[in-house]
Amino acid sequence: MAVSGPTAGVKRLDGARQTVALTVDGEVIAAFRGETVLTALLTARGWIRTFEFGAEYRGGFCLIGACQDCWVRLKDGTPMRACTTLVADAMDIVTDEQH
Ligand code: FES
Repeated sequence: MAVSGPTAGVKRLDGARQTVALTVDGEVIAAFRGETVLTALLTARGWIRTFEFGAEYRGGFCLIGACQDCWVRLKDGTPMRACTTLVADAMDIVTDEQH
């Protein structure tokens, strides 16, 4: 059967999605390969990092790499923007300076 219309050519990834395990502030979380660090963090715990000027949690703002609200670090100190970085196996992410 031929498919036409606005969904023609769109493939669902359900069932074909591979997971990766990454560590965030010392806790292992699962994420889907191909999703961003921001998506993985929001899905796993609902926030990305703590606010540097208070106790509030940050969740990203623009989600397209423009606002700079989602910077986190790898455990080795390498900074990364969560909304433009794809998850990878064995990533060790630090989002809270107190960890
Ligand atoms: S959420 Fe704006 S730069 Fe990542």
